[in-house]
Amino acid sequence: MDRLSREAGEMFIAGRTRRLTRCPAGRDSGGRMSTPSLADAIAETLFSREQIESKIAELAAAIADDFADKNPLVVGILSGCYPFIADLTRALDMKLEVDFMACSSYGGSTKSSGVVRILKDLNTPIEGRHVLIVEDIIDTGLTLKYLVENLQTRHPASISICTLLDKHEARSENVEVRYRGFVCPNKFVVGYGLDYDGQFRNLPYIGVLKPEVYQS
Ligand code: PRP
Repeated sequence: MDRLSREAGEMFIAGRTRRLTRCPAGRDSGGRMSTPSLADAIAETLFSREQIESKIAELAAAIADDFADKNPLVVGILSGCYPFIADLTRALDMKLEVDFMACSSYGGSTKSSGVVRILKDLNTPIEGRHVLIVEDIIDTGLTLKYLVENLQTRHPASISICTLLDKHEARSENVEVRYRGFVCPNKFVVGYGLDYDGQFRNLPYIGVLKPEVYQS
């Protein structure tokens, strides 16, 4: 996708328009260059694998209570949702279906423009269905505001939102979040689906990126 505007302290980053600088290379005890690791670019772990796993178990229990007999359509918003929706749905021992959407915002070099373009729509009609949207992070809320309004025109039985991270300090739109994993500080976070310039989605935990990685 061609848009990322995520606040890092006082600085807005247009992630898709900047090139990723080289990860700081590590050195071993003898001063020799060691194999670069994704972790070299991480200043601190924000949420560990264990914390994420435990949070997903909590979320799944709440979702199962609410949807056990409703065969919900679980809708992942690509691309950042992919590890979360995989782990969340596997924690749900109940009937459900999975589908995906992908979207991007127009323009906006430093901040979201609020105009969202659907790049991939659902394969499934949702009239009369209970829809559970799964996001990795909600930032301004612009993406979900647009998507919920769009999906509502298709007459689902209900639409609920589950997000792993809620960066509510950055919110400009009112979005009703039914299932929230962690409140996320207003830092540049990557990992577990979250990227910088397409990288770091495969980091198995969520960390704060070192400023030197995104500052040119
Ligand atoms: C992220 C996230 C949400 C959106 C939230 O996607 O997955 O879809 O930003 O931001 P908002 O609340 O300000 O609208 P991104 O555009 O980074 O794409 P990606 O999932 O492909 O990384």
